[in-house]
Amino acid sequence: MSKTYKPHPDTTQKAHISSLEQYKKIYNESISNPEEFWAKIAERIDWYQPWNKVREYDFVNGKIEWFSNGKLNASYNCLDRHVNNGYGDETAIIWEGNDPNQSRTFTYKELLKEVSQFANGLKDLGVKKGDRVCLYMQMIPELAIAVLACARIGAVHSVVFGAFSSDALRDRINDSACKILVTQDTGVRGIKQNIPMKANADQAVLHTPSIEYVIVVKRTGEPVHMDVERDIWWHESISNVDDKCKPEEMDSEDPLFILYTSGSTGKPKGVVHSSAGYMIYSSYTFLNVFQYDEDDIYWCTADVGWITGHSYIVYGPLLCGATTLMFEGVPTYPNVSRFWDIVDKYKVNQFYTAPTAIRALQAHGLEPLENNSLDSLKVIGSVGEPINEEAWHWYHDNVGKGKCPLVDTWWQTETGGIMISALAGITPNKPAHASLPLPGIIPVIVDAEGNELNGNNVQGNLCIKSPWPSIIRTTYGDHERCISTYFSNYKGMYFTGDGVKRDHDGYLRILGRVDDVINVSGHRMGTAEVENAINEHEDVIESAVVGYPHDIKGEGIYAYVIVSTELNDDEIKDQIINVVRKVIGPIAKPDKIQIVSGLPKTRSGKIMR
Ligand code: PRX
Repeated sequence: MSKTYKPHPDTTQKAHISSLEQYKKIYNESISNPEEFWAKIAERIDWYQPWNKVREYDFVNGKIEWFSNGKLNASYNCLDRHVNNGYGDETAIIWEGNDPNQSRTFTYKELLKEVSQFANGLKDLGVKKGDRVCLYMQMIPELAIAVLACARIGAVHSVVFGAFSSDALRDRINDSACKILVTQDTGVRGIKQNIPMKANADQAVLHTPSIEYVIVVKRTGEPVHMDVERDIWWHESISNVDDKCKPEEMDSEDPLFILYTSGSTGKPKGVVHSSAGYMIYSSYTFLNVFQYDEDDIYWCTADVGWITGHSYIVYGPLLCGATTLMFEGVPTYPNVSRFWDIVDKYKVNQFYTAPTAIRALQAHGLEPLENNSLDSLKVIGSVGEPINEEAWHWYHDNVGKGKCPLVDTWWQTETGGIMISALAGITPNKPAHASLPLPGIIPVIVDAEGNELNGNNVQGNLCIKSPWPSIIRTTYGDHERCISTYFSNYKGMYFTGDGVKRDHDGYLRILGRVDDVINVSGHRMGTAEVENAINEHEDVIESAVVGYPHDIKGEGIYAYVIVSTELNDDEIKDQIINVVRKVIGPIAKPDKIQIVSGLPKTRSGKIMR
């Protein structure tokens, strides 16, 4: 990599917390004077107009503002800022295809051009600031480009994970009345060669009155139906546009994106993130947790369809001028050493994945690791669910070779960025413990009555006192739901839905959800959501879904179902699974279904899970 660029201020050692003592000092400063602390961090990015108040909040009404009246643009800060600083020829994105011989790289200059073109393509279709654009794609570069293009023109992106069904896509489009849907012809993932993305999109848009156009990336070249009035190829949408696009000046509190996530009740909710606070927190945590340095190659294996991909594939790394790797495939294709082949191929320095992937690979033993050196790795990370001690040690010893710090990062879609985690190489590791809060974060352990449990050796529900910059701003179209879910359970605090233990050293260990949410392979699922899907089968009378310990997935889905049917048990179970696949997608299909004649109920008739 050439050394001719000016060192970027964000990626120099100066921007990092570099010792445990410094962490403690900075943490204390961030708590005693949060406004001064965050103002200093916010100065690292470029503003069209500075803010006039760092933060203002009222948890009772769920009203939170950071950097009030500041004006800035996320795409400008991810791209133009680095190009203007002489960093344009550095690699922004390395894309590794499902097939090992398919890859692409984008320098910051190239990415800026692609993003500007697509932004102009969207504008030509009438997309304006504040309009919602739905992105339903696999892990192809155009997904990151579309995210940044939306941010450039002030459109609010709503990425829907590419494995959701057409029904799930339809509901998410309708909830936020998206104007445009961006998808691809078909997708490839592992041995699956033709995932019917466009066909699913076609099904969905039969019932989405707000969608005006569907833009289709040609990924595989498989023939797909194109509606001449409604559908446009991506490459045609950018064929006659300027490759410069002036970024829209966004208010700090203008929404940057919506991302749907499951809750304990009802339908998934659209978590809304702001522009300034989200950018500042995701980039700050990226730098410090992973201790990213100039020239490092960073790889997060998540999907951009989830918050981890938003914050730590796209925004966090690009805001810091980092090189971020985006992988289209799966860890087991074409063989079970694929992750390790990629680490060696690109000399990856920071590797961030989910416990479920670790456990799945662990099951294949050490042989798949034997042909790779993994020498380049400096930091390994975990996210999405509690990492059990066995998986922690396997990952630490065999992937990190005992020399890489392992950052177990606890956070949520609603928090926008990492909240509790070791800082790599700085916070001493303790297996299965997320460890200590990031600067600015005040975790509080409360009992069922809301009493704070101070000191060490305590266990209870995890709340966060006082807001951080990237805290959820609202649930789209239903602010009351935001207040009742997060700010009403415990007065004056944000409630996470997780249980936690503070051990004798003051380290935090996340114990998992305390509400009706289960975590299947790091995917968050509402039990009520799965039950609603099961109940759509006409022979199902009632169902109850619970999580159960699963060796690979962390939690599996166990469904108790009452049916009235002529079918035998195997037939009805197959049909139920198909209904769930259709209503939500394959990630929600029950691992076990037990046909029962009754379900335990409370006196008021509520199912006791
Ligand atoms: O239960 C916690 C678990 O995942 C939930 C958040 O899910 P989601 O919004 O989909 O975001 C996942 C990626 C940030 C949390 O409430 N969780 C996440 N990270 C950890 C975790 N549980 C234990 N340890 C973690 N490191």
